[in-house]
Amino acid sequence: MAYLTTPSAQLAVSGGKPVRPPTRRWPTWPKPAPEAESLLREVLHSGRWAISSPEGSELFERRFAREFASYLGVRHCVPVDHGSSALVVAMEVLDLQHGDVVLVPALTWTACATAALRAGLVPLLVDIDPVSGCVTPECLDVDVEARAVIAVHWACRMADIPALSAAAAAKGMTVIEDAAQAHGGEWRGRQAGSMGRLGCFSFQNGKALTAGEGGAVVTDDSELAPRLEELRADSRRYRHTPSPSGGLDLEETATIQGANHCMSEFNAALLCAQLTVLDHEVGVRTRNWRKLGELLAGVPGVRLLEPAAEQTKMAMYEATIVFDELPGGMDVDDVADALSAELGRRFYVTDTPLHRSPLLAPWTKPALAPLAKRFVDLHAGRSYPHADHWANHCVQTHHSAFLGEERDMHDIAEAIIKVTTTHRPPSA
Ligand SMILES: Cc1ncc(COP(=O)(O)O)c(C=O)c1O
Repeated sequence: MAYLTTPSAQLAVSGGKPVRPPTRRWPTWPKPAPEAESLLREVLHSGRWAISSPEGSELFERRFAREFASYLGVRHCVPVDHGSSALVVAMEVLDLQHGDVVLVPALTWTACATAALRAGLVPLLVDIDPVSGCVTPECLDVDVEARAVIAVHWACRMADIPALSAAAAAKGMTVIEDAAQAHGGEWRGRQAGSMGRLGCFSFQNGKALTAGEGGAVVTDDSELAPRLEELRADSRRYRHTPSPSGGLDLEETATIQGANHCMSEFNAALLCAQLTVLDHEVGVRTRNWRKLGELLAGVPGVRLLEPAAEQTKMAMYEATIVFDELPGGMDVDDVADALSAELGRRFYVTDTPLHRSPLLAPWTKPALAPLAKRFVDLHAGRSYPHADHWANHCVQTHHSAFLGEERDMHDIAEAIIKVTTTHRPPSA
C-alpha cells in the first residue's frame, strides 16, 4: 500500500497535513435504532414513566428485562438506573459482612471500586494479567481473605470467567462478572455477563448498548433474583398477580433493605429498541477491527489488543491499540494526541489505574471513614506494574470508529504508521 512507504514527514499535531481530511465524517454515537422514536413516544403517552406508576399497559422495564435475559440466555434480569448500581446491588445481595474485602482489577473504571464501598465493603485492587489486561485465576492469589471478585471484561477483551469461577470457588469467593464493556461478546458461545454468578451491565451513553444511562444485573440464581428486585426498588418486588385495587405492579415484600435504583420507562423503551441492532453492530465492528489488524500486520512495535481464541464473538467498548515500542521521544499521551490530530477524532490513553486515580479517594468522605482506613492500610506497599505498563502503552478510541466503512480502517492504519515511522529514530 502506498502509505506504507510514503508517510508524510510532518505530523498533523506539529502543523503537517492530517491523514484524514476533516470533511470525512466519522460515524456518530449514540445511534438511535429504527424503533427508538416510536417506543419513546409510546412511553410519553402511556401514563407510566416509572415502574412505580399505577397499573396499566405492560411496563417497558418488564419487556426489556425479558428480552435481555433471553438474548443472554439467563433466567433473570433486573434493570437498574446505572451500571454502578448494578454492581452495588450485586454485592449487597451476597449477604457479605460490613468491611469484607472484594477484589477489583487495578485497570478499570472507578465505579468498580466505589460500588464496593457503597455496599459497605473494602475494594482490594489486584494487578491485571500482562497478556489480556483482565483478571485471571493467578490474580486471586492475594494475602488477604476476599469474599468476591469483580471480573471486568476490559475494553475489547473478555476475561476467562469459567476459569475464574473455578479458581474463585476454591477460595470461597463469588465472581461478579462486569460486562459493562462487553455487550454482545461471547466466550465459547456463552454471552458476556451470563457466566458469573451475577453479571452486571452499564447502558451509559458510550456503551455498545445504551439508553444514555442505565444498568442491569443478570443471574441464573432464582433465590438471588427476587432479592435483587427488592434491593433496587425500596424493598419491593413485582406482584405475580395484578393488584386488586389497580395499584402498583410492585408489592412491599421487604425481606431485605432496598433503595431506589429503578430504571425509568424511557430508558427501558429505548433499550428495547437498541437491543434489536446490537448484533448487527457487533458484526460491523468485528469486520472493521479484523481489517485494521490485517493492515497493521508487520508494522513494528504496534498491535491491536486481540480477543482471546475462546472468544466466539468480539465485544468492543474502547478499541485498544498497544504500542509495545513507543515512537522515539513520545510518551503514550503524545501518541494519542498525534493520532487524534491525524484522524480528527479522539484517541486517548486508558483510565488512570485505580491505585493512582484521583477518582478513588474514599478518605474524602467522612461517612466512609472505617472502610477508607482499611482501604488505605490494605494498599500500603502494593504496586501494580502490569496495570501501569498497560496504561503507558495503550491508546484507545471509542467503538463507534468501527461502525463505518473499511476506508476508515485504512485511515487509522495510515495514521498509526505515519506516527510510528515519523518519530522512529533511524536506528530503530
Ligand atoms: C467496567 C465498568 N463497570 C462499571 C461501570 C459503571 O457504569 P455506569 O457508568 O453506568 O454507572 C463502567 C462505566 O464505564 C465500567 O466501564
